[in-house]
Amino acid sequence: MDPSNKLTWIHSFLYLALISISVHLLHTLLISPKLGVNHQNARIKKLSPAPLQFRADGTFKILQVADMHLGNGELTRCRDVLDSEFPHCSDSNTTRFLEKMIQLENPDFVAFTGDNIFGSSATDAAESLFQAFGPVIKSGIPWAAVLGNHDQESTMTREELMAFISLMDFSLSQTFPTVEEDTSNPDGRKKQVPKIDGFGNYNLRVVGPPGSGFANSSVLNFYFLDSGDRAVVDGVRTYDWIKESQLNWLRRVSEKNRVTNPYPTEIPSLAFFHIPIPEIKEGPIYNMVGTYREYVACSLVKSGVLETLVSMGDVKAVFIGHDHTNDFCGALKGVWFCYGGGFGYHGYGVAGWHRRSRVVLAELEKGKNSWGGVRRIKTWKRLDDEFMSKIDEQVLWEK
Ligand SMILES: *[C@@H]1O[C@H](CO)[C@@H](O)[C@H](O)[C@H]1NC(C)=O
Ligand SMILES: *[C@@H]1O[C@H](CO)[C@@H](O)[C@H](O)[C@H]1NC(C)=O
Repeated sequence: MDPSNKLTWIHSFLYLALISISVHLLHTLLISPKLGVNHQNARIKKLSPAPLQFRADGTFKILQVADMHLGNGELTRCRDVLDSEFPHCSDSNTTRFLEKMIQLENPDFVAFTGDNIFGSSATDAAESLFQAFGPVIKSGIPWAAVLGNHDQESTMTREELMAFISLMDFSLSQTFPTVEEDTSNPDGRKKQVPKIDGFGNYNLRVVGPPGSGFANSSVLNFYFLDSGDRAVVDGVRTYDWIKESQLNWLRRVSEKNRVTNPYPTEIPSLAFFHIPIPEIKEGPIYNMVGTYREYVACSLVKSGVLETLVSMGDVKAVFIGHDHTNDFCGALKGVWFCYGGGFGYHGYGVAGWHRRSRVVLAELEKGKNSWGGVRRIKTWKRLDDEFMSKIDEQVLWEK
């Protein structure tokens, strides 16, 4: 072998060795950890150990977050803030507001009522969802979300969004309702729920305090409903609405909760969805507390949500979003409808009118030696001002 040939051969050998080492390193350091399933470090969704449960002091507190409108984080500017606020305002202000609310109110559960991300400003829906729900995930507090009309305008469909949100840490969100008991079937076999419209219709239950007679059974119920995004009716563009299939499911679950309730006391329920119903626009609204400063942006289709809730009887209050500068609670036929008020800085608002959030507190009746059912449901709001001011406290329901 002539010496120059030998040199080429050594070069080739070293070159190949370098490539295989690089590929190996790349695989072990970068690729394998992401394909966690091949290794011990497979990532499993974190859940709180217990079901949703009242505290030992007989209270359960919910934080409602409406319309965060998260885009690309620090790169996404605020809308409708004072000129003096604009240069130092981004999605990070929304994130900080959520951190402050969690710290101050220490809720037992956080309910996100849609437009969690603002799809058209979100380059990657997954990134924006992580940023949107990041503070509550970090806190370890159980939470759930429904979709608004803007969440799906980025890189995921509504079904993908709900599947993704359901898999996030401490999330209790579900894409479809769970399998129901068939009460008409004497052998108690479970039956599959018929397919219903939308993604994100589900029921969550809150059990009584540890050590109480209610520790294993529901004393408070939550219904989450998908109010859809946009629709065209007879050639007219409008918002979507809650469909008959969803209302049928709601009536069935409510009836089942009623007949299986082993206690003499009623189990009150709260509902959460995004788009207001036309009945709010029509009114008359009674006992209004809070601000009604914009036109109610709802569907042209009145699908019977209010009649259904009235006939069910268990839903005492409904929490909605969508209209950022309405933040009132008002009663329609005995059911409260409460806006969360715009939370996010990238969502529209009014400059100088603080972003805000709603808190709901359920309290149990204190018997001689044990707790009774829910006695009272209260609500108030907090502003993202210097003092995190608490405003508009009111009682929604009392036994
Ligand atoms: C946004 O956050 C920055 C940094 O903390 C703060 O200086 C600014 O006042 C906030 N803007 C608004 C409108 O709250
Ligand atoms: C609740 O369930 C646990 C575990 O099955 C049981 O030990 C406890 O006695 C139950 N409590 C009530 C009030 O039924």
